[in-house]
Amino acid sequence: TGKFTFDPGFTSTASCESKITFIDGNEGVLLYRGYPIEQLAEHSDSIETAYLLLHGELPTADECTDFRSSITYHTMVHEHFKQFFYGFRRDAHPMAVMCGAVGALSAFYHDSTDIHDPKHREVATHRMIAKIPTIAAMAYKYMVGQPFVHPRNDLHYTENFLRMCFSVPAEDYEVNKTLAAALDKIFILHMDHEQNASTSTVRLAGSSGANPFACIAAGIACLWGPSHGGANEAALRMLMEIGTPDRVGEYVKRAKDKDDPFRLMGFGHRVYKNYDPRAKVMQKACHEVLEAVGIQDPLLDVATKLEKIALEDDYFVEKKLYPNIDFYSGITLRALGFPTEMFTPLFALARTVGWIAQWQEMLEDPNQKIGRPRQIYTGAAKRDYVPLDAR
Ligand code: CMC
Repeated sequence: TGKFTFDPGFTSTASCESKITFIDGNEGVLLYRGYPIEQLAEHSDSIETAYLLLHGELPTADECTDFRSSITYHTMVHEHFKQFFYGFRRDAHPMAVMCGAVGALSAFYHDSTDIHDPKHREVATHRMIAKIPTIAAMAYKYMVGQPFVHPRNDLHYTENFLRMCFSVPAEDYEVNKTLAAALDKIFILHMDHEQNASTSTVRLAGSSGANPFACIAAGIACLWGPSHGGANEAALRMLMEIGTPDRVGEYVKRAKDKDDPFRLMGFGHRVYKNYDPRAKVMQKACHEVLEAVGIQDPLLDVATKLEKIALEDDYFVEKKLYPNIDFYSGITLRALGFPTEMFTPLFALARTVGWIAQWQEMLEDPNQKIGRPRQIYTGAAKRDYVPLDAR
């Protein structure tokens, strides 16, 4: 039409300015506030990285202690909040439960819905980061039919989460430091990824002045799709379907067939056209976990063969399709003891940090206005209403 730029899928439209995350998709670079993801995954932890994403700088020792205690202070949910869970069918997918439960938080924390007060905004960010593990663990416990486990605030963020998931009345979960450290790494790797679909959803929802819990619920809903956060679940299901290394070729052939809608899950990325730097860190963490739990996972053989074939195949090379983070995270989470239904909730838990940091940055931007994309209208021209008996 000449009036608007047509950019389906927003492949070349910047929707905002941001100081949080930098990606160079051609070089395989991912930086949080300037720090390479590889260094943060190796040396930092989820709480420190969350502080970095929210505040722009690594915390001093005192700032870190204060932040940790504030997050710890907010881990509990109101007793009435449990009622929401009982309204779901016993086999409800935890992502469905999380969309509803997180949205419902706004009914419990009226002060956090006052988004114009910076102090209230800060409390809202802490509440969100603190309560999301509790909610994810509750969604898991509900799905497996076990009683909810209260948070234990003397434990590290990730250790507490593992305990809330895996403690049963007869036996308190004993935290394995290696496994907790691997999960913490997964959290760091997933925390932010600039303006992906779910983060853009959170910003768009927040641009109308909606409360933070409603915005994060919108992000969770968007993340659920198999082209986005649902890919780790889909990748593992695909590996299970392939089953044995000798069947890999057949699936690669299908992925290349233009008439077959099948895609190799865990391959390809909108932004990374060289390699996904998170996938490299994840691949290493995956092997560490498998060694720590002593599991010889046959799916790893399938994954290794698939990776090898795809990296050498002309189709994948030409289209620059590389394994992404979801390719390895599924196997790792499975070794940690999580069922596939929990993979995307774990992604949501980690991404909550990025979502809330981006939401905060947006509200603090003096140029912030409501998001309102335009369209190219392709429907019928103006015409007159036709009465029913004349159609
Ligand atoms: N298997 C086979 N072919 C593929 C794949 C794949 N996984 N991904 C892309 N292609 C082909 C696609 O058919 C198309 O071919 P052609 O040009 O002949 O039509 C070409 O590569 C470009 O694909 P596209 O869909 O236009 O690329 P995109 O940038 O829009 O899609 C993607 C990116 C991630 C949605 C896509 O690669 C995909 O569906 N991958 C599988 C799902 C997946 O692993 N998603 C996780 C993404 S990483 C996690 C996150 O950040 O959320």
